[in-house]
Amino acid sequence: MDDSLLRVLTVPTSPYSDQRPGPNGLRRKVRVFQSRRNYLHNFIQSIFSSIDLRDRQGSTVVVGGDGRFLNQTAIEVIVQMAAANGVGRVVVGHLGLMSTPACSCVIRKFKAIGGIVLTAGREPAGPDGDFGIKFNTANGGPASDAVTNKIYQISRTIEEFAICPGLRLDLTTLGKQTFDLENKFKPFTVEIVDAVESYANLMRNIFDFAALKELLSGENHITVRLDAMHGVVGPYVKRILCDELGCPANSAVNCLPMEDFGGQHPDPNLIYAADLLDSMRDGDYDFGAAFDGDGVRNMILGKHGLFVTPSDSLAVIADNIFCIPYFQHRGVRGFARSIPTSAALDRVAKATKIELYETPTGWKFFGNLMDAGRLSLCGEESFGTSGEHIREKDGLWAALAWLSILATRRQSVQDILQYHWLKYGRNYFTRYDYENIEIDAACEMMEDLEITIADKSFVRQRFAVEDKIYQVEKADNFEYTDPVDSSITRNQGLRIIFSDGSRIIYRLSGASSEGATVRIYLESFEKEHIFQETQAVLAPLATIAVKISQLHRRTGRTGPSVIT
Ligand code: G1P
Repeated sequence: MDDSLLRVLTVPTSPYSDQRPGPNGLRRKVRVFQSRRNYLHNFIQSIFSSIDLRDRQGSTVVVGGDGRFLNQTAIEVIVQMAAANGVGRVVVGHLGLMSTPACSCVIRKFKAIGGIVLTAGREPAGPDGDFGIKFNTANGGPASDAVTNKIYQISRTIEEFAICPGLRLDLTTLGKQTFDLENKFKPFTVEIVDAVESYANLMRNIFDFAALKELLSGENHITVRLDAMHGVVGPYVKRILCDELGCPANSAVNCLPMEDFGGQHPDPNLIYAADLLDSMRDGDYDFGAAFDGDGVRNMILGKHGLFVTPSDSLAVIADNIFCIPYFQHRGVRGFARSIPTSAALDRVAKATKIELYETPTGWKFFGNLMDAGRLSLCGEESFGTSGEHIREKDGLWAALAWLSILATRRQSVQDILQYHWLKYGRNYFTRYDYENIEIDAACEMMEDLEITIADKSFVRQRFAVEDKIYQVEKADNFEYTDPVDSSITRNQGLRIIFSDGSRIIYRLSGASSEGATVRIYLESFEKEHIFQETQAVLAPLATIAVKISQLHRRTGRTGPSVIT
């Protein structure tokens, strides 16, 4: 045998019963991947085995990650297994880094059959943190339920995996590396790419970079503060906002990706991105944005840290969509929001006569609509916004969308937001999270609540808190029929809709790593009183939400763990 050929081994293994991917892929504590024999290998083999051999032979697969602890080790294993499983080429980000939006972009650019994205999103990283593996398909978006179910079924019975253990990667050098494998006719190729450049190029084709440059570094430039929270998006912020659009280097902070995210929680909200908020309080910056670990989420702030709720952000981008050249050229096919996201977007859709879709929580439903050419802009209340340019949420895109609006309108974030409320009214919105609840208690609460709201007498029932009276108009368990493939997705949240348009929605998180997380979404619409304090406006609804569900009594809690 030729010694220069890499050996392909088939290694026996035993299955695990808990490798069912959630909406964000398989997320586990790092120590689970480290301590359970072949836990990573089993799951990766299940992904490859779920792809028909004919599609896999000679195909291209993208591998990227947010740089968290285990990232590089996992990439080497994945590449070794891809080679042994007949994949022809693996495209990897330089140093193993690639934000999730960039992965989506690169999958599409290289016409790959899919991509393996190593991230646990905004969950903490490091040896005691989380690790995750997500599979995206050829459209660049998260795999469908049918695909993830197939992966899960394979993982339950897996007996062996294939690997080229001798294959060694150099993640530091851009370009092609080829490997000759025994029993393989063609060499296997690894291409280390500059994912930042691929992504930047996509952005150049969407936004007017000359106008953005003028806004950010021209004579009357605004001041910005961008916080990458030591996630993977730092180099993208630096290259695009600083190097290309001229923001001063010190306006982009925490831009060095770290494998433990600097010990922080890379979750762009008012609690975890409090540093950004603090740095903006004195009014030194006109615009602020923070991004999560893998670059999908965003938080937008105006001067003095004015918080733009993600639901409002989505509605404002929709209302100003033609400030973005991409949409001027392509037109707008539809808007979409997930069910708990406030109905602020609905008002814009109605006024502009653009189709609106209300989907279950999670990005894959948007992808289906986009692939069918029915959707251009979408978002979720959980700090995710994006357009049809990729099939993932895209934090930096959202910030560039806002900057495009500022560049066109030459108004402050506050003026733009207030104008929006004056025009459409304001959908006050908040989310209460009850984390780490005992799973049985949470499930029983949801089951009983469903029975309560399904009772015929529940509709028209009135609830009074102080001088506020709410009358139930509709209550159900949200169910979605996909307009593209007619598939039905059930149990997507218990909704109580009141006659004034206010809403209470209850959901169990699909992604909690410990216990259950109960989410309560509260929303109230005001046409005239648009300058009130959100929590004060929503307090009566919160009282009603707790009363109807008996949540506190059933869980022993006295309040939510997090309010956003
Ligand atoms: C959360 C968010 C949801 C988002 C998902 C994936 O899911 O609420 O909007 O799509 O993360 O990023 P949840 O934990 O609520 O199931």
